[in-house]
Amino acid sequence: MTKLAVLRETAAGETRVSATPETVKKFIALGATVAVEAGAGAGASIADADYAAAGATVGKAAEVLKGADIVLGVQGPDPKALKGVATGAWIVAGLDPFGQRTRVDAYAAAGVEALAMEFMPRITRAQSMDILSSQSNLSGYKAVIEAASAYGRAFPMMMTAAGTVSAARAFIMGVGVAGLQAIATARRLGAQVSATDVRSATKEQIESLGAKAIFVEAVKGIEGEGAGGYATEMSDEYKAAQAELVSAHIAKQDIVITTALIPGRAAPRLITDAQIATMKPGSVIFDLAVAQGGNVEGSKPDEVVVKHGVKIIGYSNTPAHLAADASALFARNLYNFLSAFWDKEAGKPVLPDDDEITASIRLTQGGKVVHERLLGD
Ligand code: NAI
Repeated sequence: MTKLAVLRETAAGETRVSATPETVKKFIALGATVAVEAGAGAGASIADADYAAAGATVGKAAEVLKGADIVLGVQGPDPKALKGVATGAWIVAGLDPFGQRTRVDAYAAAGVEALAMEFMPRITRAQSMDILSSQSNLSGYKAVIEAASAYGRAFPMMMTAAGTVSAARAFIMGVGVAGLQAIATARRLGAQVSATDVRSATKEQIESLGAKAIFVEAVKGIEGEGAGGYATEMSDEYKAAQAELVSAHIAKQDIVITTALIPGRAAPRLITDAQIATMKPGSVIFDLAVAQGGNVEGSKPDEVVVKHGVKIIGYSNTPAHLAADASALFARNLYNFLSAFWDKEAGKPVLPDDDEITASIRLTQGGKVVHERLLGD
């Protein structure tokens, strides 16, 4: 029988967990056994007893890992802690393959097969397995809530006996999964919302959510869309035009949420200190890219930085601030992935070598690093 191990996350500030009682039950229904490390769900408000009631065994890490065929994680487990797992066991987690390169080598050396869930291809079939989407969605929501909380004024327009409170103006920079959710959340709270992106396809999405699209129009030949629907690095001409447009717009904003990422590179710088200086004191910027180098000059992970009277916020791990929902979605992503490849006869998941998903996520196999994006560096 296939044994799944669910470990307590050990990274600082990581409150999420990679399985929930719901997914434990589903794995057992597939014919697997599930072992959960005591306390694994504490940060996400899931008690050990709830895992046990779902059919898992709950115990110490060593017992949980003993003979495990598949180790689930939110982040990658310490390779040194993996003693006792079955030969060729799978590690299924967000592995941060570029940031944790030495760890990937250690997984190879340990003979385990590391599967990086953040490398899931953006294809229809894999949508329900996409941890970046599920976590970004919640992050976009949380960024607006935190910005609203740090803002010394209200979001909606209010007519009161003591006079009118005017609506906040919110500007969302980067309209991927997080940005779309940020627009929707800010609108629900009653702000006047505008948004921008380098991918022209987002213009319609912004408008369909009832927000105003702010786009660079003057520069010719801009598409902004690279492989897999992701953004590409823009030309200097474009960057200059974007900076000018943003400068004029940002001075009038109360709330700015930045979400811009370029895969495999540092986050693009969208807001300079000089631009912050033009904003009204009391305005709030939430930098969702702070852990990838930041979109905003001066932003620091997990600190409230005040520059020119403007508060700049950003978390190193935003989904960890909504641990229960983030875990529920993350756990379902892992279940959706493993169950889609579950071979009933073999009683375990089987990844065909020629499958696009396999090629995208498999980092190590047979004692070697096998992923093309990690080879040759
Ligand atoms: P992301 O997290 O990589 O980046 C966030 C946003 O920032 C993107 O919209 C990007 O275009 C934008 N950006 C990058 N540089 C910028 C700059 N200099 N100025 C302004 N904006 C900038 O993006 P995310 O959320 O991962 O989405 C990327 C694409 O993948 C989207 O088209 C999304 O709809 C698509 N997607 C497809 C899925 C599927 O088919 N399975 C699942 C999830 C997303």
